[in-house]
Amino acid sequence: MKSKGKILVTGGSGFIGSHTSVELIQQGYEVVIIDNLSNSEAFIIDRIEQITGIRPKFYQFDLLDLGRLDGFFLENNDIAGVIHFAAAKAVGESVQIPLHYYRNNLLTMVNLLEVMVKYKIVNFVFSSSCTVYGQPDELPVTENAKVKPAVSPYGYTKQVNENILKDLIRSGANIKGIALRYFNPIGAHHSGLIGELPRGVPSNLMPFITQTVYGIREQLKVFGADYNTLDGSCIRDYIHVVDLAKAHIVAIERLIHGKNLSGYEMFNIGTGSGFSVFEVIKSFEKSTGQKINYKVVARRGGDIEQIWADTSKANNVLGWKAEKNLDEMTLSAWQWEQKYRVK
Ligand code: WQD
Repeated sequence: MKSKGKILVTGGSGFIGSHTSVELIQQGYEVVIIDNLSNSEAFIIDRIEQITGIRPKFYQFDLLDLGRLDGFFLENNDIAGVIHFAAAKAVGESVQIPLHYYRNNLLTMVNLLEVMVKYKIVNFVFSSSCTVYGQPDELPVTENAKVKPAVSPYGYTKQVNENILKDLIRSGANIKGIALRYFNPIGAHHSGLIGELPRGVPSNLMPFITQTVYGIREQLKVFGADYNTLDGSCIRDYIHVVDLAKAHIVAIERLIHGKNLSGYEMFNIGTGSGFSVFEVIKSFEKSTGQKINYKVVARRGGDIEQIWADTSKANNVLGWKAEKNLDEMTLSAWQWEQKYRVK
């Protein structure tokens, strides 16, 4: 059957990229992936094929290599749209090695957009983050909330990249862009064949929980229970990675079909509900029947107290809404961990 079009997914062997590639293929798109495998594994491409029955074309190179990138677009000049995930994404690590984050996250964005303009590839969806808000003054946070000074180089690269995209579009370049500001993606595809695969010690809550329960980590440390929240622990808007993946298909189709209301649009992609660390622990134990060994320790530097999304713009303008609940997120994360370790 003729595909609906060819979509480039940068970072497509990563956590959100692989889930988005699966959804794209299952919705009739041809997917081509560029990934340098700096924070993901090649076998994920096999898993995408296993789930969908179709193997995406995979190019292993770094978007910093402008020559390779130019050659890629010369060879693939029939691309209908680009979804750009490839970036370094660990908040704590970005504080330790800021130059790596600035070079990796900013120069890859400039390279990609420059070559897209050269080859007249117009439709661009960018992976942004709620990190740009810092601690919002009001909750739920809307897209009009002010963007505060970033608390990490990682968060700053997301703010700068949004402005790079806006400025390029404002310059009159033939590019249409949508930035999706993710909240906290967790969970995994129901097959258990793809999921979150952090290198080394996980910094994010969900993989640390699943690795602790599996016995790879000694104990989960809860970073602070003295916040000004219901139970003292931090609140986040956790969203199932499959719901997040689906938002990307809605966004790239909006651009392909010319439904965008302006050259640059931006949407909060969350569930609109906030859950505390203790509520996530409770959900995990209920959905999986597993006990989590944890202890409360001091707050983690850089953590904001609470954030959750106002999703009315994504629901009413973009036409997308998250469907999965927290128990589905925590159970699917555990099922992935179990299946991955047994492989
Ligand atoms: C969530 C909550 C921690 C680990 C970051 C980035 C964001 C996105 C997701 C990339 C916090 C607590 C965590 C642990 C804990 N990154 N926690 N023990 O920091 O909200 O968001 O990761 O796209 O852009 O900012 O996510 O999962 O690290 O933390 O108590 O071992 O869990 O304090 O309250 P975070 P997280």
